[in-house]
Amino acid sequence: MKGPFVIAVDGPAASGKGTIAKRLGEAFGLPVLDTGLLYRAVGVLSQRTGDLKDPEICASAAATLTAEQLDDPRLRTREAGELASQVAVHPHVRSELLEFQRTFASQEDGAILDGRDIGTVICPEAPAKLYVTATPEVRAERRWRQLQAQGEAVSLDEVLADIRRRDARDGGRDDAPMRPAPDAVLLDTSEMTIEQAADAARRIVEAARARWEAS
Ligand code: DC
Repeated sequence: MKGPFVIAVDGPAASGKGTIAKRLGEAFGLPVLDTGLLYRAVGVLSQRTGDLKDPEICASAAATLTAEQLDDPRLRTREAGELASQVAVHPHVRSELLEFQRTFASQEDGAILDGRDIGTVICPEAPAKLYVTATPEVRAERRWRQLQAQGEAVSLDEVLADIRRRDARDGGRDDAPMRPAPDAVLLDTSEMTIEQAADAARRIVEAARARWEAS
């Protein structure tokens, strides 16, 4: 029996995957989970209660996490992104967050999850997989504009350094490193507007949906 229609949207920081996931949610009428928020919440909680390098402290923060905590606007800051990337290296944190993500993905009508390891680890059976990328320079500029709009005073160079550090950490960790699943469709948004990127993603998913329906 075929499972629900899950769309996995992976890719590095500020590649456009969050906006693409939201637009796909509207186009296909599916709920969206931004899995980065889980790691951001664990990062912020672990910093409050102890040491980010202590896997057990971080894993207990992950174990107590509730869906309500994900609405906190403080999770959208630059600092929360950095804390998230640090706690995300701990295998215990990742395993504590696995069930929440799989439960979300198992909704009857389907679901969209965006993150780093959705197509490879969380939902390897997803019928639609996208890996969204853009050059570090383009991503840094996009993230810098977002941060400016949120009122965070930071230079473009600092944001580029953040992006490079997070790419290296997220892609270099041993457990569930960020990488495209072998069956993911790569979407490089460097030269695209958000409208073009969302359109391209929708077409890729429509093709995957037709294959899934026919299967
Ligand atoms: O998508 P984001 O920038 O909000 O993610 C923040 C960090 O969380 C990211 O740098 C690595 C981690 N993360 C992860 O390891 N796996 C995921 N599925 C999502 C995020």
